[in-house]
Amino acid sequence: MNKFPPIKGMHDNFSPKTDQLRSLEAILINSAEKLGYNEVRTPILENLNLFKKTIGSDSDIVEKEMFTFNTSKDDVIALRPEGTCATARFVANNDLNDQINKFWYLGPFFRHERPQKGRYRQFHQFGVELFGSKSMFYEAELFLLINKIWKNLDLQVPTFEVNNIGTYREREEYSIKLKDFFKKHLESFDENTQKKMMSNPLRVLDSKDPKIKNIIDDIPIIENYLSSKTNDQFKIFLETLDTLGVKYKINSHLVRGLDYYNDIVFEIKSRDDHTQNTICAGGRYDGLMSIISNKEVPAIGFAIGIERLINEINTSIFNKNKKSIYLISLDPEYESFSLEILKVLYDFDGIFVINNSLGGSSNLKSQLKKAEKLDTNFCVIIGRDEFESRSVSFKNMNTRKQEKVTIDALSNKLKDVFNEKS
Ligand code: HAM
Repeated sequence: MNKFPPIKGMHDNFSPKTDQLRSLEAILINSAEKLGYNEVRTPILENLNLFKKTIGSDSDIVEKEMFTFNTSKDDVIALRPEGTCATARFVANNDLNDQINKFWYLGPFFRHERPQKGRYRQFHQFGVELFGSKSMFYEAELFLLINKIWKNLDLQVPTFEVNNIGTYREREEYSIKLKDFFKKHLESFDENTQKKMMSNPLRVLDSKDPKIKNIIDDIPIIENYLSSKTNDQFKIFLETLDTLGVKYKINSHLVRGLDYYNDIVFEIKSRDDHTQNTICAGGRYDGLMSIISNKEVPAIGFAIGIERLINEINTSIFNKNKKSIYLISLDPEYESFSLEILKVLYDFDGIFVINNSLGGSSNLKSQLKKAEKLDTNFCVIIGRDEFESRSVSFKNMNTRKQEKVTIDALSNKLKDVFNEKS
């Protein structure tokens, strides 16, 4: 048995998965930067209070899922469970409050949840946050950005589940109605759900328990408790989505498990119907900034779970244009010459060079097999003949045709076959 496996719920990643992740990340970043988002990198550790005050002390994340450390008697720090709070903290600390600021971030986040497929203790999010506007047309812009990401990843157009949870005050009033409703079903609730119902009945709506889900089906509809102004604005928002051709469906049970949201919230689910199927989630959080600073700054954003997104993708889309050459040296005696060849190949831009045959006895057949497995375009082979004539055998792995090329002609040969300028 391995004495040091990774920590439960955390994973080592390696190539080709890491190559796919980098291609995916490049697509996410480009899609956001094309709309004027700039990167922000905040620390992995934050003061625990930042999350308690904003996400909510009695939220699942803060109550059960934080990795925390005591650094001194009064100071508790935490591994970040999400990126919105820290980005807002950064904006507040840098006085960036007077205009529209758009940021993206990408990195590891930590939640001490029970691991299962799609749910990890270290996972990765790509998130974007926009500060400084109350206009819900920016929400529509976020939806366009997400649609673009899906398109760039060759995924089917996503269906947004959207809901309007109203202003903080309206949400508060609705919570009271919800509590009254749930009180009639107290006997069906376990102790934990009863506690949730008392402290924040909206949290009960996140329950996965089939018995509770049945009760939730009959809850009072939030729309009926919102002002006509809030409902009218939501209507205009939906009409805008129609105009833009964005696909959505209203989910009046969608409230999100973090306290900072108001008005429009949304999620995108996987087409596979399993429990951990929310790939992307976000919404408006106009009150968050005033909790951590003395300024009011409206804001919106979303985050995508990278591990869940990559599960949706046909990763072969990332390999399409990868051109590579596999270098085979058949005897240790030719290895110095083989490095001269490697230098020519390596100096040619736009191709990957695989040099795995040095330092051991190389069998041509087994090396060709490896090259095939790696899907390389060409093999460059150095045997006795080639070594003595300072040349290589240049083998097209597609056609299986092979020709001799001298070291001096190699660079031109590469230009020919890859049809590129070096
Ligand atoms: P969230 O819904 O807690 O929202 O997480 C966003 C996404 O992160 C989820 O939809 C999921 O894809 C991924 N995720 C969350 N927990 C895990 C886990 N344990 N394992 C794997 N993936 C996970 C937020 O974090 C908000 N900060 C989103 C936001 C940004 N709202 C406004 N701006």
